Amino acid sequence: MNGVRFNHLLGLEGMSREAITEILDSAEAFLEVLERPIPKVPSLRGVTIANLFFEPSTRTRISFELAEKRLSADVTNFSSSNSSLVKGETMLDTARNIEAMKVDVVVIRHFAQGAPHFLADRISASIINAGDGAHEHPTQALLDMLTLKHQIGALDGLKVLILGDIAHSRVARSNIWGLRTLGASVKVCGPLALMPREVEEMGVEITHDLNEALAWCDVVNVLRLQLERQQEGLIPSLRDYQRSFGLTRKRLEMAGGDKVIMHPGPMNRGVEIDSDVADGSGSVILRQVTYGVAVRMAVLYLISGGERIIE
Ligand code: NCD
Repeated sequence: MNGVRFNHLLGLEGMSREAITEILDSAEAFLEVLERPIPKVPSLRGVTIANLFFEPSTRTRISFELAEKRLSADVTNFSSSNSSLVKGETMLDTARNIEAMKVDVVVIRHFAQGAPHFLADRISASIINAGDGAHEHPTQALLDMLTLKHQIGALDGLKVLILGDIAHSRVARSNIWGLRTLGASVKVCGPLALMPREVEEMGVEITHDLNEALAWCDVVNVLRLQLERQQEGLIPSLRDYQRSFGLTRKRLEMAGGDKVIMHPGPMNRGVEIDSDVADGSGSVILRQVTYGVAVRMAVLYLISGGERIIE
């Protein structure tokens, strides 16, 4: 460890290359732990972690919980998919309760952008953002980068296309920050109605022509069409969306070359991605899930001090 220290992981915006690299390097060590017959180390023995999920999640919640258990932490879970607007007092009460229970680390997913930052300002526990509204999802982007490092090697100069519903995607934002910091080129492609203008200020190029974008890239990260976040009328129809922006085998063949295919899940098969692409030879979608556990172990380990040896 070269001594980068983290109190919180709120987002990848502004995170240094050194810090990202340290997380990815530590994740390599934990990947090795996960290969062992007993994939468990005592690194976080005595550390108490609360997983607070205010929005539905399967993959991310299970991945964090597994990572915590593989590090021997004490874990408690709270889930509520009640998406009525949470008032300031309610979050403050949550914060006070966490403080009173002497929790060391809080992993929070919340439908409101900034909820993790709100907690970080008010309690002494370390906060990890597991997705806040359409803002950031840093551990997803880190696991995506770890997957690419394994699959391809250095990220410097790599051409990554992020395809689909950019407007509602915290995965897109965190990936753009992280990939740009590590020297990759990023393009985004999707319908005009799902393309926030501010992505241009993040140093990425926008295109609405999928064929052209596919001819350019080495990697395609396909995003879920977030049907639950759509306002009426943004997309004429799913069929229409699929026709212009769905990733199909035929389109990939037309673009030529081997592409790495990623998707953070959950997938709408037959909408943003066809099954023969999702399950095809270029797909690393399940590998992303495996690497997710190692990345979360690394983040939890570094946030808790990173001093104890990985035995
Ligand atoms: C993403 C999320 O929740 O932000 N999924 C995930 O964490 N694996 C993307 C999505 O919901 O489409």
